[in-house]
Amino acid sequence: MSFKIRVESSGHEFTAQENETVLAAALRQGVTLAYSCRNGDCGTCKGKIVSGRVDYGKYDAKAMSDAEKAAGSALFCQAVPLSDLAIEAREIAAAKDIPIRIMPCRVMKLEKLAHDVMVLWLKLAEGQRLQFLAGQYIDILLSGNQRRSFSLATAPHADEMLQLHVRHVPGGLFSGQVFTKMKERDLLRFQGPLGTFFLREESERPTILVAGGTGFAPIKGILEHAFAQGITRPLHLYWGARARPDLYLHELAQAWTREHSHFRYTPVLSAPSAEDNWSGRGGWVHESVIADYPDLSRHEVYASGPPPMIEALKQAVKAHGLSTERLYYDSFEHAHAGAG
Ligand code: FES
Repeated sequence: MSFKIRVESSGHEFTAQENETVLAAALRQGVTLAYSCRNGDCGTCKGKIVSGRVDYGKYDAKAMSDAEKAAGSALFCQAVPLSDLAIEAREIAAAKDIPIRIMPCRVMKLEKLAHDVMVLWLKLAEGQRLQFLAGQYIDILLSGNQRRSFSLATAPHADEMLQLHVRHVPGGLFSGQVFTKMKERDLLRFQGPLGTFFLREESERPTILVAGGTGFAPIKGILEHAFAQGITRPLHLYWGARARPDLYLHELAQAWTREHSHFRYTPVLSAPSAEDNWSGRGGWVHESVIADYPDLSRHEVYASGPPPMIEALKQAVKAHGLSTERLYYDSFEHAHAGAG
């Protein structure tokens, strides 16, 4: 049994197999609906059912309220069609042109930049490159059908090697391997590119980028892409972490401020230690953003980090005039962007 799904605004049509979510079916057929966690937690994939029926699946109440559901909303990463559907959904025009592939790669370098952060450099087989948009992620495929998601920390133009920032999670299946057993020349397989977190290049708006911990990885890719493209709109990076060693590429961000007059960098530490000798910003990163930008109505914001940071930032920037469609975020619920 399969069902036909039509996206009303674009006229795109695709087919869902039995028990396949709307999002999985769309991605499989090259229709890139917006998504982030694919876990029913973030709400990025939320759209409307214009006609037809779905099983709404499991999701967190903060991602979709009962009132939204009653008004016709559904989370397409969880919703499974029970009939043919007509839907309203946000589509990403640029990403859908990029095929999602499974590719082998070799670990070329392991670089430990903090006690719990390893930078992994990966190279594809001879003559192969991964096409992606700056800020997208890949899934590392592990045995037993397990997968772990990591943002690409490099820009597409520098695709000779892919860079991942892996945070060591105690007991983490993949990160444990990276920190204990992995060595140069090891082989891995991944699927990608994935995700809709990438720079909207056509915008002229001043742009604020907010990274939390290893959420710096996709922001780094986006910034290096913006610099390479000659994008000149103001770019202001906030990087929130606990203590100074957690800003594991602080000097790189400082170097960008010297090289690009339209770029600013504000590191923010929530729990600096005495040895850090920190005289910079303290507290939570979203507090610094709104202290500097009490009116965000002319801006756009890109954010990548753990769910509590993204949630706090979402609330704060909305209360300070940022419209919802100008907030792009990558919320790494479980393994995404550097854990697991
Ligand atoms: Fe569907 Fe996050 S809730 S992608």
